[in-house]
Amino acid sequence: MIRELGRFERIGAHSHIRGLGLDENLRAKDVADGLVGQKKAREAAGVIVRLIKEGKMAGRGILLAGPPGTGKTAIAVAISKELGKDVPFVQVSASEFYSAEMKKTEALIQAMRKAIGVRIREQRVVLEGEVVGLDYNMIPNPYNPTQKIPESATLTLATKDEKRSFSVGSRVAMYFLSQNVEIGDVIIVDKETGRVSKLGKSEKARKKFDIGEDEVVPVPSGKVEKEREFTYVLTLHDFDEANARRGSIFSLFGGGSREIDNEVRQAVDEQVKRLIEEGRAELLPGVLFIDETHLMDIELFAFMNRATESEMAPIIILASNRGFAKIRGTDIVAPHGIPLDLLDRLLIITTEQYSRDEIKTILEIRAVEMGVTISDEAIEKLTDIGEKMSLRYAVQLLAPANEFAKLRNSGKIELQDVERAASIFSDVSQSSEYLKRWEEKMLGM
Ligand SMILES: Nc1ncnc2c1ncn2[C@@H]1O[C@H](COP(=O)(O)OP(=O)(O)OP(=O)(O)O)[C@@H](O)[C@H]1O
Ligand SMILES: [Mg+2]
Repeated sequence: MIRELGRFERIGAHSHIRGLGLDENLRAKDVADGLVGQKKAREAAGVIVRLIKEGKMAGRGILLAGPPGTGKTAIAVAISKELGKDVPFVQVSASEFYSAEMKKTEALIQAMRKAIGVRIREQRVVLEGEVVGLDYNMIPNPYNPTQKIPESATLTLATKDEKRSFSVGSRVAMYFLSQNVEIGDVIIVDKETGRVSKLGKSEKARKKFDIGEDEVVPVPSGKVEKEREFTYVLTLHDFDEANARRGSIFSLFGGGSREIDNEVRQAVDEQVKRLIEEGRAELLPGVLFIDETHLMDIELFAFMNRATESEMAPIIILASNRGFAKIRGTDIVAPHGIPLDLLDRLLIITTEQYSRDEIKTILEIRAVEMGVTISDEAIEKLTDIGEKMSLRYAVQLLAPANEFAKLRNSGKIELQDVERAASIFSDVSQSSEYLKRWEEKMLGM
């Protein structure tokens, strides 16, 4: 649970990004899709998106290298937006590979297999319509009573001509929750498995809620239940889990994280290859984005190197803000702390420091995204901070500064709010400097 929250926060800082902001010739516009400047890197990323969509990048690697706060993670997020929802994009920090739950290499291979999609096409009996009712019956999770999970749910679907209600069990209800199915969505549910595919928001719902990004689709006509072609995307990891837990107690609650046997994976690979040969499925190699690459150790790098040579490998994007660093687990110093044999095979995209104007524009975009207004003096002050300390720190100060504005009963962030926020929150370099001095003092005692 905690880890999920972390991920949400990490994406939160990039919620203003809608894409790479390129024109049809793959040239970066000055400001577009929430992105500002950093044109070379954006254009390079645009070429990579092309190659991925054409299936020409599988198993290849990319390194985003540049100083802190120069938009490496932002560009990775933009790539995921450009790829669309069917191509898997998995974002992890290298620190997440180290856990008590499983071996680090197991965590890495699971992340890699989550990043490979299989699009399956089948003639199925489906339920199709607009969601006009969805009620969950929540109970405490038997494995973790502080958490609630749905025991069952009632779903009401409507077409232009018919309305029907269905009750579904725990597993399907969990699936609805994880897919974020909401009132106003037009969905198709595979009747047998409960698998959901969201087509978009109904025209009616859009008028009512004015929801941003979802596609708007007409409400279907005819019967709710019908036979039709159903397309859905599973990841190799979904296949692995389904095969591994067949008949086990985990099938009740969707499992948790646990290790999967290699035989299971081999069987899944065979199964998927068969589906592809029979023309019933198509492989969608996606992206595994590994942030904070310097936390990977030599063993993980070696394992990753081997894994990318397999037929079914995702493209890997690494991000690093280190220059030369020790490869973790060794005494060898290498560029970005990455072993040379791997480095040789990576396409490298560098990001550069922003100009003052660019920093200001990014901060203004963030303010709009957060729905806050800010005075000229306050934005200038934040821009100073972004220039002198880091952009990331300046972006992060917006939220507390806004809280201080609210305390003054003002709807507008003023200079004093920024100053107050900056005086109590530290930048990483400040906090590490402080700890260093503190350590030295302790050693001197
Ligand atoms: N070119 C840009 N256009 C718009 N927003 C940007 C741009 N570059 C960065 N940002 C925003 O600025 C903040 C800091 O950037 P980001 O976290 O992507 O930097 P980073 O290079 O990944 O830094 P680090 O090395 O510390 O991980 C984020 O909120 C990000 O969305
Ligand atoms: Mg980053």
